[in-house]
Amino acid sequence: MEALAVRRAGPDDAGAMAAVIEAVAPEGTLGAEPPVDVDARAHGYRELVAREDAAAWVLLERSDVVGLLTLAPRTRGVLGLATAIVAGARGRGGGRALVDAALAWAADTDAHKVDLEVWPDNGRAIGLYAAAGFVVEGLRDRHYRRADGTLRSSLLMARRLD
Ligand SMILES: CC(C)(COP(=O)(O)OP(=O)(O)OC[C@H]1O[C@@H](n2cnc3c(N)ncnc32)[C@H](O)[C@@H]1OP(=O)(O)O)[C@@H](O)C(=O)NCCC(=O)NCCS
Repeated sequence: MEALAVRRAGPDDAGAMAAVIEAVAPEGTLGAEPPVDVDARAHGYRELVAREDAAAWVLLERSDVVGLLTLAPRTRGVLGLATAIVAGARGRGGGRALVDAALAWAADTDAHKVDLEVWPDNGRAIGLYAAAGFVVEGLRDRHYRRADGTLRSSLLMARRLD
């Protein structure tokens, strides 16, 4: 099995990053739901990586983008984290490598916190975040209405940087 590598994402990665979201969205683990507007998402990633106060990383298997992580300001001093890895590249340390790269970058900014939302039944992601020092700060109760009409709760998790 090929080793996985992490590097900062640039504008040329935007299309492949959007394709990862399109591949993962049908599982229901993400906020994004099918059909994913790949062009709009790629445009968003291109804008994100051009910002000085945001950053993205890609997970590579050989030269293929198999995962991504983004950090973008949510409110002053708080960076929101989002991540996804295609099914075939999970469980091999890639999630941890992405989170570690992002936290190292965040520590060099003036941000005081990184936060995220995760479905309460996403044990793998919650385990990853907890191992990286994130703690549960709260629950959004039946907050998100999904395309099928169901209401989903989300856990608020965050890691202080100060
Ligand atoms: C969540 C996700 C990014 C994790 O990436 P991954 O490559 O599977 O995780 P890693 O192999 O790096 O494992 C990192 C840590 O996660 C935890 N973990 C991994 N698999 C786990 C499982 N099945 N159950 C609980 N914790 C698990 C462990 O703490 C692990 O650390 P350790 O190996 O040092 O013990 C990935 O599974 C994914 O993209 N899932 C679908 C999309 C998603 O859920 N995104 C997050 C939405 S909030």
